[in-house]
Amino acid sequence: MSGHIRKPAVLVTGANGEMGHGLIDRLAGAGNVHIIALDVRPIDAGLAAKSTATIVGDILDNRLLERLQSEFEIHAMFHLAALLSTRAEFTPEAAHRVNVEGTLHLLKIAIEQSQWHGAPVRFFFPSSIAVYGLPDPATKHRVGRVREHEWTMPITMYGCNKLYCEHLGRYYANHYRQLAADEKRGGVDFRAIRFPGLISAVTVPSGGTSDFAPEMLHAAAQGKPYYSFVREDRKIPFMAMPDAITAILKLHDAPRERLTKCVYNIGSFNPAAGEIRAIALREFKNAEIGYLPDDKRQAIVDSWPEDVDDSAARNDWGFMPEYDQSRAFDEYLIPGVKQRYAR
Ligand code: SER
Repeated sequence: MSGHIRKPAVLVTGANGEMGHGLIDRLAGAGNVHIIALDVRPIDAGLAAKSTATIVGDILDNRLLERLQSEFEIHAMFHLAALLSTRAEFTPEAAHRVNVEGTLHLLKIAIEQSQWHGAPVRFFFPSSIAVYGLPDPATKHRVGRVREHEWTMPITMYGCNKLYCEHLGRYYANHYRQLAADEKRGGVDFRAIRFPGLISAVTVPSGGTSDFAPEMLHAAAQGKPYYSFVREDRKIPFMAMPDAITAILKLHDAPRERLTKCVYNIGSFNPAAGEIRAIALREFKNAEIGYLPDDKRQAIVDSWPEDVDDSAARNDWGFMPEYDQSRAFDEYLIPGVKQRYAR
């Protein structure tokens, strides 16, 4: 653990992940905030330089969490640490520990922190389209856009974990120790977004099931052959990483009284795998991109919706993606990956 502060700070767990990178960059760029970056692996040098303190450790480690509690005054948490959906299917119990027990630990810390300093702790939780579970591709196609309360029958451990943590967050925010006699101070102000698949130009995901899209693009930019594990007609919602980060900050900053929900869908564009391949081939003429469908991973993609209804996010806190499909590829992803792999 490096750095020692007792001043208002924001905690980012899963700092080394794709979202952690994007978020810490943006938070540091805005200035005037003390960032505590926590990850199970050593914090990337670039992120450490932008953070006030770095912590390497496991969110399940009680001693680490006690130290966090004693050394820092935390006013906001962005709890991004998780095992993604494909990885979680190989080790479901480990995924449950990280994704659920880890979140429970963090919520408990948020409550204790708020009781200590007297103000609610804003707690941001990244949920996912994986909380949905459509029974078959025909239903998925017929249903189209799903609203937050519909089709929440996830078929993955990750989806179950995310859905349950949404409920845990709502419980901590609204009903925590509801029978206790003592007067409550502080509390948790829990806010969650159900993200579509995210595509970043500067980082690559690991262990997700929406990874075929970013993998296709990053492989093409490096001149490496790639075989998609889903067929060309498979479709789920996606979003460019900068829009995801903007959404996190926008929801985080929204006045509480404007929010009618704890959990919001957001979406931007909905390409089939074949459309992403076509864009990659247009830009990288010699790219070799084929299909080698993995029926089991594809079945997970098939259980996720084709599109989401994000009208609540738009109405309540002004969600508005900057990048539709063509801007995402033309102005962000393609130039970004070209630059990333330029020799
Ligand atoms: N993109 C994530 C995954 O594929 C879903 O949230 O696991």
